Amino acid sequence: MNKISEIASTFFAYLKRPDLYPELRRKIWKNIFNRSSGLRGKEEAEKWCGSLAISEKDFIEKVLNTSFIPFEKIFPQEFASALQAQAKAPVKMGGAGSLSVIYYINEYVSAQRSIETGVAYGWSSFAALASLVHRNGTLYSSDMPYILQNQSEDFVGCVIPAKYRSNWDLYRFADKESLPKIFNKTDSFDVVHYDSDKTYDGRIWAYNLLWNKLRKGGIFMSDDIGDNAAFKDFCEKNNFNPYIIEFDGKYAGIIIKD
Ligand SMILES: C[S@@+](CC[C@H](N)C(=O)[O-])C[C@H]1O[C@@H](n2cnc3c(N)ncnc32)[C@H](O)[C@@H]1O
Repeated sequence: MNKISEIASTFFAYLKRPDLYPELRRKIWKNIFNRSSGLRGKEEAEKWCGSLAISEKDFIEKVLNTSFIPFEKIFPQEFASALQAQAKAPVKMGGAGSLSVIYYINEYVSAQRSIETGVAYGWSSFAALASLVHRNGTLYSSDMPYILQNQSEDFVGCVIPAKYRSNWDLYRFADKESLPKIFNKTDSFDVVHYDSDKTYDGRIWAYNLLWNKLRKGGIFMSDDIGDNAAFKDFCEKNNFNPYIIEFDGKYAGIIIKD
């Protein structure tokens, strides 16, 4: 698909979805006036991440003081079924980050209420829920469907085991609409995991909002923080000392709230 026909298809796909009109308006505005937001400060962000990065094993063992068993080894059957569900899905969606880190941070704070932005196949949701269900906790998720893939909505969260689903509360809108709806239900969380709008401005808007809803002692996590300088600037502005985890050639940032 060339660029013009992709823009036209995206526009017409949005027109069929009145619930996503606010996001369409924001996308048009961004594409006209704020095109650099995706990669703003990428080079400095990558350098900063590289200088601080540790492995997921070191983070789990040395920071969380927990012995590290990879997530897929703790839940081998559920993991194998999840791989099969992904293979059967006819749509291609965003991939997973470190499932072990997501699982262990929920365990570490004995999470009852966690929130995540960005679901796609649901790998991160699966990892958070694997911990939450033992305490009958809830995962609140915000996810806007892939607008160009007709069937994508049917497969959002398809890897999440059926036995976890009653502990999952999904909001299928852009974060700017989903988050206020989620906060109407609950406005204090033990864990925040950000993995949706990766632009600089999208991150800063959501980071500030989500940070204020994280309880003291809770854990904040953001994926792909080397994409631009939003996470770095957020930490520097607020004097936070984050942990940076390198996983699969990408970086995730973690802040434990004092
Ligand atoms: C990288 S994928 C999430 C992967 C998932 N966390 C995992 O680990 O398996 C990003 C998801 O965020 C969604 N998304 C992108 N922009 C969004 C926005 N502004 N609001 C809500 N969801 C958004 C995408 O449609 C996609 O489903």
